[in-house]
Amino acid sequence: MKHEPVLMHEAIEHLKIDPNGIYVDATLGGAGHSQAILKRLDKGLLIAFEQDDFAIDYARNILEGEDGYVIIKSNFRYMKKELEARGIHHVDGMLFDLGLSSFQIDDEARGFSYLADALLDMRMNRDQKITARHILNTYDVDELARIFYLYGEEKRSYPIARKIIEKRPLSTTGELVAITDRINSKSKGHSAKRVFQALRIAVNDELTALEEALASSVDLLNPGGRIVAITFHSLEDRIVKHYFKKMSESDMPAGIPIMDEKKPPLKLVTRKPIYPSEAEKSANSRSRSAKLRAAERT
Ligand SMILES: C[S@@+](CC[C@H](N)C(=O)[O-])C[C@H]1O[C@@H](n2cnc3c(N)ncnc32)[C@H](O)[C@@H]1O
Repeated sequence: MKHEPVLMHEAIEHLKIDPNGIYVDATLGGAGHSQAILKRLDKGLLIAFEQDDFAIDYARNILEGEDGYVIIKSNFRYMKKELEARGIHHVDGMLFDLGLSSFQIDDEARGFSYLADALLDMRMNRDQKITARHILNTYDVDELARIFYLYGEEKRSYPIARKIIEKRPLSTTGELVAITDRINSKSKGHSAKRVFQALRIAVNDELTALEEALASSVDLLNPGGRIVAITFHSLEDRIVKHYFKKMSESDMPAGIPIMDEKKPPLKLVTRKPIYPSEAEKSANSRSRSAKLRAAERT
């Protein structure tokens, strides 16, 4: 299924694109945002990161005939190193549209969905060794419960982790859903929703990758360059919000003039997150949990 870009207009507007600038799309996916950025570039360059080969092939098709872009197959956590290896030390903006592309979720064989029975895989980058199966069959009870609790806010993390250990080895999503069905009541959404979110985050080490990429963003951005981040759950949003806050606060008392070199490296562009319109939410259910935040390099 096609990936419908979320908060497209808002993301492009907040990037404040200079037609001759260098932009990073950290999450190429189905290339919806990349295509819109390219449309606004003249002599500029778009560098897109993606760790999933299927998405790269898909996006190359969408971008056929366009020029002024480079696709780098890499986790965006290595953005700085990858850009520097190509002689690029500064960029004018970067976009993160986090999580999965619709076609990854819809491809039953990849094991992201609790609605289909498939091998427990959940890797975005299929060259990576760690799969959901590996985690479920080798981690101890405390590690499993920690993942479910921290990354899924799953209240019954210990009973689920204990049952997993009793039923090992697990190989399919159906076997995991049978466990969450027994332990979680069906009244609060799907019994496996939080466990699947947690496992996916753990398999792809999503939150640490985001923290690392954000940490390199300040060094990479030219003054006036912006980071725009679209998040889909509270854990991602919290990381972006805290990073922007930390990097935009001054430790000098209010009222004292601040010399340029003491200025915080970022300033907030969005004090409150931007949400999709009602029209977007009803047209694209995936957008319902989206939040956009933006900050500018000082
Ligand atoms: C929500 S989709 C992006 C959709 C895209 N903006 C569009 O308009 O079609 C996120 C994509 O980013 C990729 N991705 C997620 N985390 C990544 C990471 N740490 N490094 C590289 N790619 C990542 C996923 O494989 C997925 O295809």
